[in-house]
Amino acid sequence: MSKKPVKKDNDVETTGHSWDGIEEFNNPLPRWWLWTFYACIIWAIGYTIAYPAWPGISGATKGVLGWSTRANVAADIQTAEDKLAPINAKLEAAELTQISTDPELGPYATSAGSAVFKTWCAQCHGSGAAGAIGYPNLLDNDWLWGGDIENIYLTVRHGIRNEEDDDARYSEMPAFGDDYLEDAEIEAVVNYVMSLSGEPKDASVVEAGSEVYANECAACHMEDGTGDRSQGAPNLADAIWLYGGDYETVKETVTYSRYGVMPSWGNRLTEAQVRAVSAYVHQLGGGE
Ligand code: HEC
Ligand code: HEC
Repeated sequence: MSKKPVKKDNDVETTGHSWDGIEEFNNPLPRWWLWTFYACIIWAIGYTIAYPAWPGISGATKGVLGWSTRANVAADIQTAEDKLAPINAKLEAAELTQISTDPELGPYATSAGSAVFKTWCAQCHGSGAAGAIGYPNLLDNDWLWGGDIENIYLTVRHGIRNEEDDDARYSEMPAFGDDYLEDAEIEAVVNYVMSLSGEPKDASVVEAGSEVYANECAACHMEDGTGDRSQGAPNLADAIWLYGGDYETVKETVTYSRYGVMPSWGNRLTEAQVRAVSAYVHQLGGGE
């Protein structure tokens, strides 16, 4: 037995629709809800006009306000740079030798230089500047080109044996294996070089090697093997090796020579950054 609901007087009015006797109440959305809904639509349209919104093929619509996260970052960077501009100007104007003793510039150059080093130099010289094979240690006082602040600055600014900077430091050790020296002469001079700082592999040829050395090597590495910084020729007598001091490695160096390249930084970094990182390297421990 079905029981049909009886309509009471205070019931909400119906829409007049009826299915199988089931009628639909006419319950409109509350006003406040409806107006909020319309307001949201209007706000959304306004928003997509004002701000970047609709994706296109080569990027989203820009929005009439011209707002962008990239521009915000650029503005933040600009603010930071403006704040540092006076001290950077001071750093650029200072005598290189005065930077480390200046109570304001010294600490600033060291911390700014450390940041530059981690970004641009650590790949090759190591994050602690201890270097690697072919990439010199910048912590010790064994310098290829010179460890005073002026020389470090010149090295960093122009680089070494690169083709991008006409003032890059340059020198070239000949490849003595190129039909230039006999194998026996090379073996002899390698033993002589090893004897300068340790044990040769074959002591019997050291004597002969010293003659080859005097004729072929002393012009760059000096008579006593202590090297020549004006040519970037390493000290061969101090047991500190850029490429390695074992027989095989020294023989390889003499036979084929080496050609260590460092980029020029004067055209990549600002003058203040070059000075800061030079000051940072200078105070690492080996600075002269
Ligand atoms: C792509 C690798 C590379 C990067 C990056 C690099 N260097 Fe070098 N650097 C070298 C090499 C290789 C040498 C040694 C070249 C040679 O044999 O004379 C060198 C040499 C030096 C020297 C001379 C050391 C000496 O004994 O006289 C200094 C100083 C130096 N680098 C500082 C820096 C600083 C500061 C940076 C960062 C701004 C940097 N380098 C980034 C490869 C690099
Ligand atoms: C024209 C100058 C020049 C002459 C001549 C020369 N060298 Fe060198 N030598 C250099 C330079 C510059 C380097 C550094 C190369 C580099 O860093 O890429 C070097 C590097 C070396 C090294 C590597 C040292 C290390 O720490 O790993 C050895 C070993 C060496 N030379 C031995 C010799 C011997 C032996 C001779 C003679 C047969 C000789 N050189 C002649 C300029 C010269």
